[in-house]
Amino acid sequence: MILKIFITGGSGLLGSKLAEIALERGYDVYSGYNSHSPDFGKPVKIDLYNPESVLKAIKEIKPEAIVHTAALTDVDKCEINKRLAYKINADGTMFIAKISRMLESFLVYVSTDYVFDGSRGMYREEDATNPINYYGYTKLLGEKYTNDFCIVRPCVIYGARPASGKVNFALWLINKLENGEKVKIITDQYITPTLNTNLAKMILELLEREIKGVFHLAGATRVSRFEFAKEIARVFGLDESLIVPSSMAEIKWIAKRPRDSSLDTSKASKYLKEKPYDLKKALNVLKKEVE
Ligand SMILES: NC(=O)c1ccc[n+]([C@@H]2O[C@H](COP(=O)([O-])OP(=O)(O)OC[C@H]3O[C@@H](n4cnc5c(N)ncnc54)[C@H](OP(=O)(O)O)[C@@H]3O)[C@@H](O)[C@H]2O)c1
Repeated sequence: MILKIFITGGSGLLGSKLAEIALERGYDVYSGYNSHSPDFGKPVKIDLYNPESVLKAIKEIKPEAIVHTAALTDVDKCEINKRLAYKINADGTMFIAKISRMLESFLVYVSTDYVFDGSRGMYREEDATNPINYYGYTKLLGEKYTNDFCIVRPCVIYGARPASGKVNFALWLINKLENGEKVKIITDQYITPTLNTNLAKMILELLEREIKGVFHLAGATRVSRFEFAKEIARVFGLDESLIVPSSMAEIKWIAKRPRDSSLDTSKASKYLKEKPYDLKKALNVLKKEVE
């Protein structure tokens, strides 16, 4: 049984939920953060841009397991500031893998659906990767450095709390609809949205059972962003008519976005006791968490 766990990105949307659940399970939890103080676990300030500091901090703790969730997650920022993205997402992950080998810690690296180009959708773990933006490219490099460990790929994470100074799509939408504001949501981008609670539990199971390999850990339901928004409105009893259809072409993104980065989660469903939730179940859990 793993007792001591180090979570990079402990202040983030996924990392904070991981830390919360790991604490509930009796783990000794260390939450690595950079600029936002974490709500759960023992805070450890690290900067992946300066890997020596990360090495020093983790070496002292000697965790049995590391979950590497930290990343430069702003896709457009990665496109503009490629050097920063490379340093944090690629080099940073290379260092975390090195530290894990050195300390013989079990590592889970959190990658992304954006390693795929999105031309097909419902990707399986063994499908060919082909990132279409720099963020996806740097995250894929991270996979190369961690391929002797456990790699998980989520898709559009959402949850009940703001984290790392940001609100996620579900919270943003709920807030807008509660205020009676109209929102334009795209109908031509397909995803398998992932509730952070479900994702955190699946990751902890992989870590507890020390399962290696690549796993698609996402929600079990493929929807367009528009359908996702409609379903959120229905579950939360909000006014669906405020959600207006729009298209990807209308959005002025800097980096290209995959059109369909939905993930096939049948491997996770087969191997894990904590299964990927379908959208209805996930949104009902979210509703309870928000209340
Ligand atoms: N969100 C999604 O929809 C999504 C989808 C697929 C995959 N993923 C992947 O899932 C993982 C978790 O995503 P998330 O949404 O939870 O991320 P997030 O909320 O944006 O949090 C990012 C975390 O990384 C930390 N971080 C950023 N720069 C750092 C640096 N230089 N040194 C140390 N830590 C640094 C942040 O710390 P501070 O806030 O303290 O600065 C924060 O804790 C990421 O690896 C991401 O690539 C996310």
